[in-house]
Amino acid sequence: MRIFKDADEMQRWSMEQRISGNTIGFVPTMGYLHNGHLSLIEEARAECDLVVVSVFVNPAQFGPKEDFGSYPRDARGDLEMCEGAGVAAVFMPTLDAMYAKDASVGVNETSLSLGLCGTSRPGHFRGVCTVVAKLLNIIQPQVMVLGQKDYQQAAVLTRMIRDLNFPVELKIAPIMREPDGLAMSSRNIYLTKEQRSQALAIGAALTKAHDCFYAGESSADEIKRQMRAELQENALDIDYVEIVNGLELRPVQSVEMGNVALIAAFCGKTRLIDNCIL
Ligand code: PAF
Repeated sequence: MRIFKDADEMQRWSMEQRISGNTIGFVPTMGYLHNGHLSLIEEARAECDLVVVSVFVNPAQFGPKEDFGSYPRDARGDLEMCEGAGVAAVFMPTLDAMYAKDASVGVNETSLSLGLCGTSRPGHFRGVCTVVAKLLNIIQPQVMVLGQKDYQQAAVLTRMIRDLNFPVELKIAPIMREPDGLAMSSRNIYLTKEQRSQALAIGAALTKAHDCFYAGESSADEIKRQMRAELQENALDIDYVEIVNGLELRPVQSVEMGNVALIAAFCGKTRLIDNCIL
């Protein structure tokens, strides 16, 4: 497995692979890899000859009061996991290798990124779009695989790829859950034992939304009321509970199949997100 820290070297390797006729599947990550990431790697392997994983905790997508400094990091564990999963190359750049000191260009998505996480995390999606645009230019994959857990991120990046004509196909892999239903996330490591069981209310609230809808309820207000009740009973601090249409992420009044129920909630200081396509 090759490990690259330098963007030009990574780019040269990718170009050589493409010239040799290999296809590249790319999984962007911020590291601290878990089985959810492994499922993305598997998906990329099924689609392409070679898989490249990036590991970079991107400061540009964290707000000033967010957890950039304490975000979990385990470079050695990440490399072992990638090696075991048959990854061809890992791109692990330093901050300086990714951003020039006087970098002054970024990518702004100005519609889908405004609501939901964009409301409570201003600037977050600009950071995500900018770093992913750079990673796509460096790694030059034919396929990029993202997880459905970050539903809004996947929608925003789908729009960026369309609007800026990136020559890459985006695949969205299903959410991976722990046996008790908690969506896998690197941030789960922050949870105490008690918070870990409180956090199960997020999955339970989404199951409630699903069951309510399939029992015939179509009022978004009523479904959201029941979701909020589940979260509040378990003392979670709600950031948002929303039901949107799948593509434009517009809140709906009357729920239809294919709409998406989304939650962001704080469990202690840890902000968790999850969603369910109805
Ligand atoms: O989903 C993530 O881990 C990050 O937002 C991404 C896509 C790697 C960009 O930093």
